[in-house]
Amino acid sequence: MRLLFLGPPGSGKGTQAKIISEKYGIPHISTGDILRDAIKNGTPVGQRAKNYVESGGLVPDDVIVDIIHERLSHSDAGPGFILDGFPRTSAQALALFGVMCQLKTTIQMVIRFDCPDEVVIERICGRRICPVCNTSYHIKHKPPKNDGFCDKKDGAALIQRDDDTETTIHRRLDKYYNALESIQTHFSDILFEVNACQSEEEVTKTIEEHWNGNR
Ligand code: AP5
Repeated sequence: MRLLFLGPPGSGKGTQAKIISEKYGIPHISTGDILRDAIKNGTPVGQRAKNYVESGGLVPDDVIVDIIHERLSHSDAGPGFILDGFPRTSAQALALFGVMCQLKTTIQMVIRFDCPDEVVIERICGRRICPVCNTSYHIKHKPPKNDGFCDKKDGAALIQRDDDTETTIHRRLDKYYNALESIQTHFSDILFEVNACQSEEEVTKTIEEHWNGNR
């Protein structure tokens, strides 16, 4: 199962990638998570990415492509993977084809999460994440059982992402919609749309229906 999730910030890509990844035993590869870890650990990649991520800009393609190349070369990605948040530019999409060629494999399905701006803004403003396992919560729609703490065994205190501010969200949405057409043309024959305004369970079911009906 080699999937790619496209969608505006807050549309639920990470939430669904986590569900599918756990259910099918394939890694969830999120460039956003990798960059946030690098920033937290102060690595050279993190230092280069910090300002772009915190202001809602796009990290330069060469940094991202190196990250993806390295990550997809790990043996755990051999049986499959879910790419979440990559590619974000046409240049990244072309680079992905190069990496796939080198690894003698292909992307089988691209899922585009569709969700209006007002919904994703509300989701992002209420999002809280676990800094240990990256599980997403929402103060209204998906509160943790223990207020402010992750339900998973790490039980870590939840945080709000630095780029989850209303100003930054608008910039991130602009970046997404400006690049969308040029990215999706590379995948038109394997692109499927999902109404991401449905419940988490319904979104998962729709993704699985696309997968089972089209692979
Ligand atoms: P990244 O981490 O990829 O952020 P994003 O694309 O903006 O996506 P989000 O993580 O905000 O949203 P999501 O769709 O995963 O939603 P989630 O499932 O959490 O990137 C961050 C930054 O890194 C970028 O801005 C950029 O600077 C940089 N970057 C990353 N990749 C890059 C690249 N390839 N090139 C250049 N720069 C790059 O859900 C959101 C909320 O909604 C949660 O609270 C969740 O609980 C709730 N929710 C989810 N599903 C539902 C549902 N069905 N119903 C109700 N609530 C729901």
